[in-house]
Amino acid sequence: MKFQAPKGVSEYFPPRSRAFEWVRNGLITPAQRAGYQLLELPVFEDTELFTRGVGASTDVVSKEMYTFEDRGGRSITLRPEGTVGALRSIIEHGLDRTTLPTKIWYSGPFFRAERPQAGRYRQFHSVGIEAVGSDDPALDAEVIAIADAGFRSLGLKQFHLEITSLGDSASRAAHRIDLVAYIATIALDDATRERASLNPLRLFDDKRDDVKALMQKAPILLDYLSDYSKEHFATVQKYLSALEIEFIINPRMVRGLDYYTGTTFEFVHDLLGAQSGIGGGGRYDGLMAELGGQDLTGIGFGLGVDRALLAAEAEGVLPEGVFNTDLLFIPLGHDAKVKAMVFAHEFRSQGITTEVAFGDRTLKNAMKSADKSGSRFVVVLGDAELDNGQVELKEMSSGTARSVTLSTLADVLVKALLSS
Ligand code: HAM
Repeated sequence: MKFQAPKGVSEYFPPRSRAFEWVRNGLITPAQRAGYQLLELPVFEDTELFTRGVGASTDVVSKEMYTFEDRGGRSITLRPEGTVGALRSIIEHGLDRTTLPTKIWYSGPFFRAERPQAGRYRQFHSVGIEAVGSDDPALDAEVIAIADAGFRSLGLKQFHLEITSLGDSASRAAHRIDLVAYIATIALDDATRERASLNPLRLFDDKRDDVKALMQKAPILLDYLSDYSKEHFATVQKYLSALEIEFIINPRMVRGLDYYTGTTFEFVHDLLGAQSGIGGGGRYDGLMAELGGQDLTGIGFGLGVDRALLAAEAEGVLPEGVFNTDLLFIPLGHDAKVKAMVFAHEFRSQGITTEVAFGDRTLKNAMKSADKSGSRFVVVLGDAELDNGQVELKEMSSGTARSVTLSTLADVLVKALLSS
């Protein structure tokens, strides 16, 4: 019996897993630097949380949830997204009872039973942030700027930012009247009409050409913004311009989740084909109250780690070498191995990534594996080296070696690593 991973899951193993880790950390760091704090969330929640929070009209809830009954007969769902779980936690633990906005970040696997293809998985990885409790348009710009900084820190350039506003409840109510009236005049099958009755905005997201063509003439929300929403959206744009973040206004953007209001955005990569959305998010005015919390607005994003990695590979921006081990010790003989273990232990505590070649191989074999290991430096430790306290520090990229006193090896390495 040969086991395989379930269909459509993303999985990372060496050496690519190092790049995955690097991308994920790169996407999280700007949020940490802006004072967002970790919320470590469960991977499953009560199903009701998602149906209520994400919205019954969405594909995510109606077709893509991994839902099962647990041993206690409760309906449980593997989280398809992070926002509603984050808000559940904020409400449950009273994190919204301190200085607002409450600013948190999270990262991990998410689950959607989609048809798998390149860049679209049934288990995928996202990092997200949520800022709850302020409607300040500067916060919208900050959230967008953090996402932008994450992508740029990876060296990505070939992507663009699309933004729109879905307005406040007054804007949406006014728009909905005209949109529903328009939808009543067009030919649609029953299932689509049913979906539209739950959320008419969903039709803007329909992938079929005939529906797309019909929706081209539909009234768009941006034309119905209340004075408050218009002013808010204009201010967000001013902040983005001050931050020199370029954007395109896409009034027909529809996100796959129902809770969005006000500023809504998507980062689209230009080289990824059909699955080009590398990140997205927006405001959610009624969601906290819908989930039983205070009536506070919030805004956040989710960035696709798998897709950001594909984008970095497509643009050829993954840095070489940063993932390599700094030093490999090749001990020859028992005494040397003890010494190598002791040195490796000590070097690691000084922040030098150090490996030891195990298995008592011959020098020739050990050097071959040193070539393969991707180690930047190699030190062979034999009886002679132990006796005279001198080792050859070999730099693998250039093949050059220099003689170093064992007691100063760590200092020499740190200097060499800093300057390389
Ligand atoms: P989302 O756009 O549905 O937003 O997901 C966030 C990101 O996850 C997407 O932009 C995409 O890069 C990635 N992604 C989504 N589905 C898949 C998949 N099947 N395979 C690979 N990558 C995928 C949210 O989930 C919201 N919770 C974001 C948010 C936070 N809005 C407000 N706060």
